[in-house]
Amino acid sequence: MSGSYVEVEERLRSYPRVDGLKKVTGLAKYAADWDFEDLLYGRVIKSSIPHGLVKGVDTSEALKVRGVRAIVTCLDDQTIWNAGERFHRRRVFTDHVRFLGDIIGAVAAESRFDAIKAAGLVKVEYQEYPGVFNVEDAMKPNAPQIWEDGNVRGPLITNYGDIEGDFARADLIVEAHYRTSRVANAQMEPAASLAWWDGDRLTVIAATQSIFGCREGIARDLGLPLEKVRVITQYKGGGFGNKASSMNYDLIAAILAKRTGRPVLVELSREEEFSLVHGRWSTDQHLKAAVTREGRVLGVKLKAYCDVGAYTRHVGKFVEGPEVYYSTTSWSSEVYVVYTNTPPTGHMRAPTGPQSCFAAESLMDEIAHKLRINPVDFRLRNAVIRAHNTLRLTSNGLRDCLQVGAEEFNWYERWREPPEDPSKLNDTVKGVGVAIGAWHSRVGRGEARLSLGQDGSLKLYVGVVDIGTGAKTTMALIASRHLGIPLERIEVTWGDTDLVPYSIGESGSRTTSFTGNAVKEAALKLKRQILVAASRLTGMDEDRLEIRGGRVVSRDGRVSLDLGEVVRKAGAEEFQAFASTEQGLGEDEERLSFAAHFCEVEVDSETGEVKVKDYLAVHESGEIVNLLTAESQVKGGVTMGIGMSLTEGLIISPQDGSPLNGNFMTYRIPNATQVPRIRVKFVEVEDPYGPKSLGEVPIVPVLARIGNAIFNATGVRLRDLPFSREALLRGMGRL
Ligand code: MOS
Repeated sequence: MSGSYVEVEERLRSYPRVDGLKKVTGLAKYAADWDFEDLLYGRVIKSSIPHGLVKGVDTSEALKVRGVRAIVTCLDDQTIWNAGERFHRRRVFTDHVRFLGDIIGAVAAESRFDAIKAAGLVKVEYQEYPGVFNVEDAMKPNAPQIWEDGNVRGPLITNYGDIEGDFARADLIVEAHYRTSRVANAQMEPAASLAWWDGDRLTVIAATQSIFGCREGIARDLGLPLEKVRVITQYKGGGFGNKASSMNYDLIAAILAKRTGRPVLVELSREEEFSLVHGRWSTDQHLKAAVTREGRVLGVKLKAYCDVGAYTRHVGKFVEGPEVYYSTTSWSSEVYVVYTNTPPTGHMRAPTGPQSCFAAESLMDEIAHKLRINPVDFRLRNAVIRAHNTLRLTSNGLRDCLQVGAEEFNWYERWREPPEDPSKLNDTVKGVGVAIGAWHSRVGRGEARLSLGQDGSLKLYVGVVDIGTGAKTTMALIASRHLGIPLERIEVTWGDTDLVPYSIGESGSRTTSFTGNAVKEAALKLKRQILVAASRLTGMDEDRLEIRGGRVVSRDGRVSLDLGEVVRKAGAEEFQAFASTEQGLGEDEERLSFAAHFCEVEVDSETGEVKVKDYLAVHESGEIVNLLTAESQVKGGVTMGIGMSLTEGLIISPQDGSPLNGNFMTYRIPNATQVPRIRVKFVEVEDPYGPKSLGEVPIVPVLARIGNAIFNATGVRLRDLPFSREALLRGMGRL
């Protein structure tokens, strides 16, 4: 690594989070922790049928509950929630019920108890429609229509190269079918939003990933100018994608607050979260690859069907990602988006990443096996050189990840051919697997403000909220390094649209690139101000001065000034610097972060139980700003991926489309006993745009990698997620 602004020793240090102490001592204030004398509690009124029209609402019994202060329903409020659905207009309170639990109204009451009770007493009269609860039924020509323009959108197309030519040229065509399940976000903090009005100005305490995205959405939906909306998020208890813009509960809090003239806190219960917070859609993917005898994949054809539920918030292509990390000369995919009368879906950590990688990387493993090529060699042969075979990558450490990982994992010693006959297996068998993955690393707009006070303290203002990524700490570290001021002397102000400049917020793995770049610019501007002032004070040339350890010092050691002293002697209250930056990629460029994951699994051939024993995740995300939080990101992503591989899957009722396991008792996110020690290694490659993304990429390769290791251990290829013991035992001829 060369030309970096950070010295190596310092860079490789790990920094605990600047807000860590507050979080672990319970001082951190989350949305539902705010309290007001006159606070009202809001609850949603949900449909009791999966599909139909609301014909009438009877609130008379509900209004008799003593503490009720307002009831609002689809009959008297038509507000559109623009961020709530990708292809159609969705109402906050719907009169066309599209899944069991769809929101048709809300109640505000003096206590949680009264609100829950009243919401349950609202009587709704429906005109019932038949429902469709799976892709197959929803695609039938005479299926009940969930949306006026039908249940299917698409195909969404990705195409490059001469696909038919590549298939004609191929020595071998390999195809397979893969399925991934519906997955819940399952973040620790359930949805909550608290709103109040001061005249015509709205304040929302939101549990959002992006205060500015949230403000923009609320302003648009409620027809308010931006400056009439203030969004505050001091702490956020995890956010895996679905709270990145205005949410319906933000709007509901605002609507109820308007009706009652009081602050209203709207909360969802844990069970409600499982149907109302948009989780990951399921996929049904058919892949076909054109391959040469030497193991070069020329082209891939993909056809996929996604069950997106009743509403989808996702804005991308639903199955995509792998077309950029192989060096194929062609790719062609057709993706169908299918609505069903089931819980809605949306962004979740690398929204298309793990499910798309699962299919592609499983298929690559199948091809390598057919050709008897070592899986690592096969991937080295096919790893991306140019994205879509045309775009230049700003940096590319994918091969390094594979090579460094193979070495560290001792891959070539540990890998052996899978057993020929799975039915002959006894006791416990072990196997290893590898998978690669990538995720986009965009660049774009960011802002930051810095001020240096007379006491030498530095204040950093950034629009981050920190959903668990360590963003506050990362931003402070970037300022600290470019200024030469110790982290402890930096106070970060975040999470309030009235106090901080714009940030994209924590979504799309963008904060470090977008906002971090602005922090760097602001720091460089402030540094220059300080050095100019110090030069004036000392009569020494600027370029002979530098800031080190929070003091201005000269290289010859004659000058050593406290930063506060520089401000005071310059006669200023404070020094201020503001930066607004917007990077853009060149037209022929693509920017990605990469990973190669290795693991060993142990399979009990009697019970089909799979244990992940050893896990190595090697990542290339450009420069690593904070090793500690970077490692945590990877461990978190791998843990989520292990869940999605082995235990997590929302089970949809075939009778009414509701989740049958919508709680933490039966929806099994992995616990400590199921997660092995995860070794994390970073390969650093210089990227002209600065540090690359890391938040989402760690979950991308996990599922395929576990599937590949199970195959290596048993000779059984599992193609449906989550991998079940039954399927494995069936594959071994035991069931
Ligand atoms: Mo994310 S799934 O871009 O918050």
